[in-house]
Amino acid sequence: MKVLVVGNGAREQAIAEAFSRSAHKPEIIVFSSLMNPGLRELSSRMKTAPLDDFEALKEFVNEEKPDIAFIGPEGPLNAGIVDFLEEQGIKCASPKKNLAMVETSKAFTRGLMQEHGIGGLPKFKVFSEDKGVAEFITELNDEGLGFVVKPDGLAGGKGVKVSGEHLKSVDEGIEYALKIISSKQKVVIEEKLEGEEFSLQCLTDGVSVLPMPLAQDHKRAFEDDSGPNTGGMGSYSCRDHLLPFIDKESYEAALEITKKVVKALGENMGEPYKGVIYGGFMRTARGVMLLEYNARFGDPEAMNVLPILKNDFLDVCTAIIEQKLDTINLEFEEKATVCKYAVPEGYPVNPVRGAKVEIFSTGEAGIYYGSVEEKDDGLYMTGSRAIACLGIADSLEEAEQIAETGIKGIKGDIYHRTDIGTRRLIEKRISHMNSLLSREESEEEQ
Ligand code: AMP
Ligand code: GLY
Repeated sequence: MKVLVVGNGAREQAIAEAFSRSAHKPEIIVFSSLMNPGLRELSSRMKTAPLDDFEALKEFVNEEKPDIAFIGPEGPLNAGIVDFLEEQGIKCASPKKNLAMVETSKAFTRGLMQEHGIGGLPKFKVFSEDKGVAEFITELNDEGLGFVVKPDGLAGGKGVKVSGEHLKSVDEGIEYALKIISSKQKVVIEEKLEGEEFSLQCLTDGVSVLPMPLAQDHKRAFEDDSGPNTGGMGSYSCRDHLLPFIDKESYEAALEITKKVVKALGENMGEPYKGVIYGGFMRTARGVMLLEYNARFGDPEAMNVLPILKNDFLDVCTAIIEQKLDTINLEFEEKATVCKYAVPEGYPVNPVRGAKVEIFSTGEAGIYYGSVEEKDDGLYMTGSRAIACLGIADSLEEAEQIAETGIKGIKGDIYHRTDIGTRRLIEKRISHMNSLLSREESEEEQ
């Protein structure tokens, strides 16, 4: 078997590594836009070209003739890479362009959930012209709900603005929404939710939906969840595959929403959704709500689940493609994981680019290469999240220590969040959740 992995970074390294552990010993080839040393080491051949350069991709697959493909990032999914590869006879364990709309259009997904009466929907409206925007934002504000303004399409996790945080007033909210509309994009405006976020990544063949351990990402750049939003500074998962502030009931509710969405996608599109479907959920006092879906693994959350997957990943992907996922019992090691990213100084607003980064002694930590390029004289950062360190252990404390020790062995013009996976931050999340739940209870009693 020959497997094609598409993508540049740490997530794709975790994917390629999972394939490399397969008992079938597949040959791995990579189509990447960066000369990433992690991917280079795992592959027999790596072609570097922009990920949407389908001419270069065609030449590569004609030469290599891979049997199956797995797509890491959302950009190529949005460009229709799966449709393109399937035309070349290569089966993919990733969704086609129209099905990937579950990620690439927030308006589509909100509309789909509404049409099928699926729970977990905040109050929302979609606008493609200015009319009604000011009224709706004012209405949400007057109801004391707060509001969130989202461009419909992909924005690398950085397009969403929330009232009270990025948007200081109703006027700023209206201005941002109108700016999105003037750039010929739809805008989704919705009520602001309060709670704790979690990532539920599932594998599906369009019929069966198999959950992976829950993980929590950290979007904010700096300690204690301050600073601008990023692609994700780090994430953790627990030994019991839940999170300390997400009970079994909330987990089941999130899984139920995803199962209904997969079914609805199949019905509306007339063909099955195949691959990863990753829901970003929030547990609120009113129950579990859906923030967004992604049509791929999370980065960094792929590192929380794939390294502890017990199944043969090639068998799992073949089952996705052949729609036999019902024959797979997905199993994960009972381990906690903590993943932390070293990012260039100034990231995400004004990152240093082209600076050298060196890896010294990283102890037991797994090293996953992100936006770095290997040159003759070493590794250079390209401006986005550079290197991820992963700790796996019996307890979260140990896993955190391993990741932290690892990242301290990386030198350069970089920073990272020391608080990810620490007891202190997790206690804060638990007490936040508890205070929301008890506030709701006392309001109900009154
Ligand atoms: P998204 O790309 O839709 O996941 O949004 C990015 C981030 O914005 C999420 O991780 C949340 O922190 C925040 N966010 C999105 N939607 C809402 C909402 N309705 N209420 C509060 N925060 C939100
Ligand atoms: N961890 C956030 C994302 O992959 O979208």
